[in-house]
Amino acid sequence: MSSREHLIAWLNDAYAMEQALEETLQRHAKDAKDDQEVRSRIERHIEETREQAEVVRGCVESLGGSVSGAKSALAGLFGTVQGMANRPAQDTMLKNALADYAAEHFEIASYRALIQAAKEVGEEKIAARLTDILRQEEDMARFLEEKLPGAVHSALAKAGG
Ligand SMILES: [Fe+2]
Repeated sequence: MSSREHLIAWLNDAYAMEQALEETLQRHAKDAKDDQEVRSRIERHIEETREQAEVVRGCVESLGGSVSGAKSALAGLFGTVQGMANRPAQDTMLKNALADYAAEHFEIASYRALIQAAKEVGEEKIAARLTDILRQEEDMARFLEEKLPGAVHSALAKAGG
């Protein structure tokens, strides 16, 4: 496998990751129906996630590849994380925040690796497009990080102390 083929394969993983994450975020937006700030931030990130998938697809195609419909092992990983928060409970919002925080950091790690790989094969334009995506993931991760203490507090308050 050449370096460019590796880059295409890894971009395909990122594409599958974005698709898996969109499904998770849809569910978490519904769970956040009582918290307008969280809900609208998640909905904004759903839009960003769809755009990111299209940017990644464009990167794959500009390298002469095509995106595969198959979900990657990374999608399976998100399936495991999602399994944590499938039942409605007092701490659903907290579990969702933990899963989303983990997912955003997995994305951050993935895009950092992809940016490096794109630079190594001389694809500076692709590296720049992936850097824009990285910034969006970092913004979402920061939002979630700020929300974690309140999510813990609310879960404990609902439990009655
Ligand atoms: Fe993303």
